[in-house]
Amino acid sequence: MANEGSYEAASKRSDEIAADLEVHPEKYTMLTGDRPTGRLHLGHYFGTLKGRVELQEKGCRTNVLIADYQVITDRDTTEHIQDNVYNMVMDYLACGLDPNKTMIYCHSAVPACNQLMLPFLSLVSEAELQRNPTVKAEMEASGHELTGLLLTYPVHQACDILFCKGNVVPVGRDQLPHIELTRTIARRFNNRYGKVFPEVDALLSDVPLLPGLDGRKMSKSYGNAISISMTAEETAKRIKKSQTDSERMITFDPENRPGVSGLLSTAAICTGRDAAEIAEEIGMGGSGQLKKYTTEAVNNYFEPIRERRHQFEADLDYVKDVLHEGNRRANEVAEKTLGEVQEAMGMVY
Ligand code: TRP
Repeated sequence: MANEGSYEAASKRSDEIAADLEVHPEKYTMLTGDRPTGRLHLGHYFGTLKGRVELQEKGCRTNVLIADYQVITDRDTTEHIQDNVYNMVMDYLACGLDPNKTMIYCHSAVPACNQLMLPFLSLVSEAELQRNPTVKAEMEASGHELTGLLLTYPVHQACDILFCKGNVVPVGRDQLPHIELTRTIARRFNNRYGKVFPEVDALLSDVPLLPGLDGRKMSKSYGNAISISMTAEETAKRIKKSQTDSERMITFDPENRPGVSGLLSTAAICTGRDAAEIAEEIGMGGSGQLKKYTTEAVNNYFEPIRERRHQFEADLDYVKDVLHEGNRRANEVAEKTLGEVQEAMGMVY
């Protein structure tokens, strides 16, 4: 998405930060988040959730945002939003985010964070907003005209990151234009009004992207994803229904055998084994055996996570308390930063 040169630079910075995080976790404030549009799946888990928990345990400050306002960037409804948000908190907790260490909150509940949008909008030009490749792709995928929010949400995402002075943002490559814009906004604000904001960098995952069961990008809308919240039976059913091919001999060949290879990649990541090695072991066992192996691999890995999730499902009051406490803390942080912003701008009356 981002052009190659800036990707190379971001990737190099990301490697440096990953190394420094091992030595000086206290220098880092992590902020990242998700849109509450449905249940989190294995792609989210291996691509980012697992890494967030590791950062939490390393001892840097960790903040996880449920980006509810971003839901309406490319859709016209907030249907199921409350249910999606509570379920997202359950997924987080089940995967090991600890609310005593990680601030979990929704940006709609943090007015002072949203208020940063006004000065930040003044720091970017319309042309800069128009050329964001991720916004363009999202607009095309949505089939909508460009709304004011879709055009400007990368600025709002800068508010998400900067309100807590986040300086490390674990994201996928598609988010790099937004991180670049956040850096620009922070730099311009600091130059114009005085230093309030840190320099922000992306932390790119070194785990290869896990494809869906059909080998395409994992996505709920393709029906090729396994959700963290699925039961063992639902998982088995989804894998059973997945499309393989007519060749009996199992080989790992993502390009020519997307279905077989999607299953192998899933089994590999859950067992920590090599996909080609699993393929060789199954060999003439065919897709029946491959599906059985993959189902067991997923269900074994996620059994303890799903068990924890059941406990949270049965205790919605606790889930709400976690979110309320996160929102309360986020408001405290945001009001402090907004105060600094108003002070820097001389807007103190
Ligand atoms: N745009 C991100 C996504 O679609 C979600 C998000 C919102 C985010 N605010 C953020 C990610 C701030 C990182 C930092 O996945």
